Amino acid sequence: MRTQVGIIGAGPAGLLLSHLLHLRGIESVVLESRTREQIESTIRAGVLEQGTMDLLTEAGVGARMKAEGALHHGFELAFEGKRRRIDLTGLTGHSITVYAQHEVIKDLVAARVAADGALRFGVSETSLHGIDTDKPSIRYRHEGEACELQCDFVIGCDGSQGVSRASIPQALRKDYERVYPFGWFGILCEGPPSSDELIYARHDRGFALISTRSPNVQRMYFQCDPKDSVENWSDDRIWAELHARVDSHDGQKIVDGKIFQKNIVGMRSFVSATMQHGRLFLAGDAAHIVPPTGAKGMNLAVADVRVLTQALDAFYVDSRADLLERYTETALKRIWRAEHFSYWMTSMMHRVEGASPFEQQLQVAELEYVTTSRSAATAMAENYVGVAGAQAS
Ligand code: DHB
Repeated sequence: MRTQVGIIGAGPAGLLLSHLLHLRGIESVVLESRTREQIESTIRAGVLEQGTMDLLTEAGVGARMKAEGALHHGFELAFEGKRRRIDLTGLTGHSITVYAQHEVIKDLVAARVAADGALRFGVSETSLHGIDTDKPSIRYRHEGEACELQCDFVIGCDGSQGVSRASIPQALRKDYERVYPFGWFGILCEGPPSSDELIYARHDRGFALISTRSPNVQRMYFQCDPKDSVENWSDDRIWAELHARVDSHDGQKIVDGKIFQKNIVGMRSFVSATMQHGRLFLAGDAAHIVPPTGAKGMNLAVADVRVLTQALDAFYVDSRADLLERYTETALKRIWRAEHFSYWMTSMMHRVEGASPFEQQLQVAELEYVTTSRSAATAMAENYVGVAGAQAS
């Protein structure tokens, strides 16, 4: 089988790229190791920057996001017994939408299926061949059969543990990594929102985040030991911890509800500065990971796709390879800006075991500054909505 662009991974990056290429008359095939049900139900983050909303809308998959997502014009920072608002729209002219990543996935899969797009689920034994020639191919097993997909380009959107990045010779790779000694315990619960806007709380017991999914479903997180297990946390213990970390800031109580999903994620910053090798290009988590604070992960994946789509379009329509050659350089500017922001926000908000009282006061001083200085608040807001410096281009 032959196509123009072979895409590994049906996450937001792979699906959106495939659909944007289709709209430009460029053919692709998407290969995914999991099932459609699995990718459509995996719970992830849910904050979309304006640029992400714009690209989804341009791809023709923005209708449900607009109807069901919640537009937010600010968020709150809670610390030292107070809650202070960062006015995103007032400071930057931009806002964000809270809409779950797996809903974005459902919309994209539906669009690919409606357009008769080639989408193979449940593939295994995927391997890349000839990526340093102009005839690369992907071999894989699908429904018991050994298959080969010949293509002009292979795009690796298969996450951090996928085969794509691992196919670049180690000697040519330059990776940067930082592992944080904490995790996030995430819950989904039934009930009304506890707040009109997201609350990021710094507390001596650890970080907590109040987010939302719909008028009846809420998303909340609290910092935990990354090695902890969800079995150790009864609903009562979870609510006691969330109340202790969030309510104390202004006496307004968060609303308990029936918890129907619990998970723990570790926190890591990672950048593969080698995002391309021959005819292989990496996008999204395959190339970079951010800790969740600030919700940059999916937005970065979508930003990579914007750059790649333009570069592939220039190659096929104008016979220009220069944008593809500069892909890594272009993408890395936004990636490093978001890496710094995620690291900064994580460091300011989390309890660090063994931190001295001096270091704790530095966190509070930073929070005081971003919530009282218009220029510091603007810097935070620009990064949050995704228009700071290199993010803007
Ligand atoms: C959500 C996740 C984040 O990492 C964040 O910073 C804000 C919101 C969420 O899942 O709703």
